[in-house]
Amino acid sequence: MNLKGTVCWKSPSNIALVKYWGKYGRQLPKNPSISFTLSNAHTFTEIDYEYVENVNSGPTLEFAFEGESNKAFGEKILNFLNSISDELPFINSLNLNIRSHNSFPHSSGIASSASSMSALVLCILSIEQKIKSLSEIDLKKASHLSRLASGSASRSVFEKIAVWGKTEFVPDSSNEFAVPYLDGIDPIFFDFHDDILIASAAEKSVSSTAGHALMNDNPYGSARFQQANDHMGAIIKAMQNGDLNTFGKIVEKEALTLHALMMASDPPYILLEPNTISMIRAIQTFRKEKNVPVFFTLDAGPNIHLLYPHKNLEDVKALKSELIKLCIDGRIIEDHVGNGPKQIK
Ligand code: PMV
Repeated sequence: MNLKGTVCWKSPSNIALVKYWGKYGRQLPKNPSISFTLSNAHTFTEIDYEYVENVNSGPTLEFAFEGESNKAFGEKILNFLNSISDELPFINSLNLNIRSHNSFPHSSGIASSASSMSALVLCILSIEQKIKSLSEIDLKKASHLSRLASGSASRSVFEKIAVWGKTEFVPDSSNEFAVPYLDGIDPIFFDFHDDILIASAAEKSVSSTAGHALMNDNPYGSARFQQANDHMGAIIKAMQNGDLNTFGKIVEKEALTLHALMMASDPPYILLEPNTISMIRAIQTFRKEKNVPVFFTLDAGPNIHLLYPHKNLEDVKALKSELIKLCIDGRIIEDHVGNGPKQIK
């Protein structure tokens, strides 16, 4: 059987509340993590495919990012597809033309591996669905395969809130894949805002891959992995109780701990910018003075994620007009908790 067609998915980024930092084996996390799935920050991936049943010498692929052929990304994708072809042998019979773009501007300092890799995997599973006439895509499998490409991508597959990594606080949790986590959570967290404040659009001096590796010899490593697991228990309880203060305390501690771990690595490094610190101070002062539940988190970079409930949208405007002055070219990406990936074709 030969088959031709086009598949297309839009998949969002996510922001970790308890951070995954440190891994072992084949992309397995040293601690559990929990994240908000975002909406506006997403990758759109479209693939024209040709499946030639009796030819197993593939896959072949062409890859264009933001409308331009990109060999380096193409090679990365080819390596990834080869690495999962033992699980999905039909991959060896595919010729692919992949076109991908992000909703957020290129070099905005936003990591895109979670959205791009989950979009790619969902497209590949859509092709499998067509070849095998499957009724639906198994999201657990999508999460597992996304994880193999980029750990945090495992969480982007699910709407609103996802947990990745084995923890006693989430019974069906696993190191192999993420699970959605909505049961018992106070709905205030289902439409939380996340405004991404761009403190620098420069490429990171140390990649996440290198940062994870440095956790192997970090002197605070084992204490950190224990802390992350304890934070999972505490943040889940806070989110079930709608306890914004405890939620915010843990989220901010997680962000600062992540960067403290980088500063305590060998060699040590700093990804924060002076404006990141100024923004943190402005947020903390505003919260204290106005008594508004607005918090920050960071991923492995200098940009601030400003988190607050939808009901406080108006209250936070005054703070945002201060923070925008500290952003590169006044850049803010306004985002919120979203409904997960969407199949376009
Ligand atoms: O998925 P990776 O390998 O890019 O690592 C992501 C690490 C953090 O963004 C810092 C934390 C997380 O859990 O997403």
